[in-house]
Amino acid sequence: MLFSTLTSFLLSALAFNVVGGTVIVPQAPPSDHIFHTSSDVPTGRNVTIAGVNTYVNTPPEGTFDPTRAVVILMDIFGFGSTDNFLLTDTWAKAGFATYMPDYFLGDPFPQDGSITNDAWHLNHTEAITTPPLLAVLDALRVQGVQQIGVSGYCFGGLYATRLTQNNTVAVATMAHPSSLAIPDDYILVKANSTVPVQINSGEFDTGFTPALAEQTDEVMVGYVPGYNHTAWAGVGHGFAVSANASDPVAVAAKEGSFEVMSSWISAHFV
Ligand SMILES: *[C@@H]1O[C@H](CO)[C@@H](O)[C@H](O)[C@H]1NC(C)=O
Ligand SMILES: *[C@@H]1O[C@H](CO)[C@@H](O)[C@H](O)[C@H]1NC(C)=O
Ligand SMILES: *[C@@H]1O[C@H](CO)[C@@H](O)[C@H](O)[C@H]1NC(C)=O
Ligand SMILES: *[C@@H]1O[C@H](CO)[C@@H](O)[C@H](O)[C@H]1NC(C)=O
Ligand SMILES: *[C@@H]1O[C@H](CO)[C@@H](O)[C@H](O)[C@H]1NC(C)=O
Ligand SMILES: *[C@@H]1O[C@H](CO)[C@@H](O)[C@H](O)[C@H]1NC(C)=O
Repeated sequence: MLFSTLTSFLLSALAFNVVGGTVIVPQAPPSDHIFHTSSDVPTGRNVTIAGVNTYVNTPPEGTFDPTRAVVILMDIFGFGSTDNFLLTDTWAKAGFATYMPDYFLGDPFPQDGSITNDAWHLNHTEAITTPPLLAVLDALRVQGVQQIGVSGYCFGGLYATRLTQNNTVAVATMAHPSSLAIPDDYILVKANSTVPVQINSGEFDTGFTPALAEQTDEVMVGYVPGYNHTAWAGVGHGFAVSANASDPVAVAAKEGSFEVMSSWISAHFV
């Protein structure tokens, strides 16, 4: 009797979680990030676009289509992390004109842990972060860019999702996104979007966990514009931004996710 009451309580709790509950994807702790340790030097340049400092790297003149661009939506370490510049360089090396707007306006989350994640986020809400991002996207359009693909990492995954929900970009990819409301944000994507979207998750991510990724998959079944989720084993939060060069599993996930994301964007630029 007690057992069956307990069982039905547990089953209804489970059902609530899967069907009715909305989970806000937590920020993974900053300590889950590994920073780059090699001597690689970024090869791009900073350009002020619509008043926003933007790190830009483009393939050699004449070898790329200037009507298409990739916009990198950074993690919280922003312009304070060499990894973000090197990631942008990787996109450019793969043939894309690539732009990384500093939507933190010179105030990345410090790597030294001197302030808390929550305190920093209060100064980087959607209301604060979105206008400079949209200003850069608009300026790129004025410059002649007709199709924008976005690639969002951690913090940037929310913005990749927002730009997908309201059809502001042509194609979207993201890795280990945070701050999403699951499943609601993807119920909205499915209902309102025409943007093909691709998501990478890590087995040990404490933010966008495998369970949340699975809930997203359930919502996105049958999404006509195109959906792909690729799960990476053996890695945690931040794996697509930086990897321990001595750890072959981490390196394979970082390189493999880049391959999937860049192929997705190429395939959906028309
Ligand atoms: C771009 O700006 C950031 C932040 O001001 C700076 O740390 C970085 O060195 C700059 N990069 C280049 C290539 O000038
Ligand atoms: C947030 O911004 C305010 C106003 O610029 C500043 O005084 C405060 O120190 C900032 N908080 C953090 C945690 O950076
Ligand atoms: C797209 O979403 C962003 C973020 O929610 C919002 O600020 C912006 O106004 C939206 N743009 C359009 C065209 O709906
Ligand atoms: C749905 O997409 C349209 C553009 O196609 C956008 O203007 C609108 O804001 C979106 N709705 C929501 C709720 O994001
Ligand atoms: C997602 O894309 C990857 C890489 O292209 C592919 O291996 C995988 O089969 C795709 N997943 C699904 C469910 O189609
Ligand atoms: C990097 O990986 C190597 C090999 O797995 C390991 O010994 C080392 O502790 C790792 N370094 C960090 C910073 O995680």
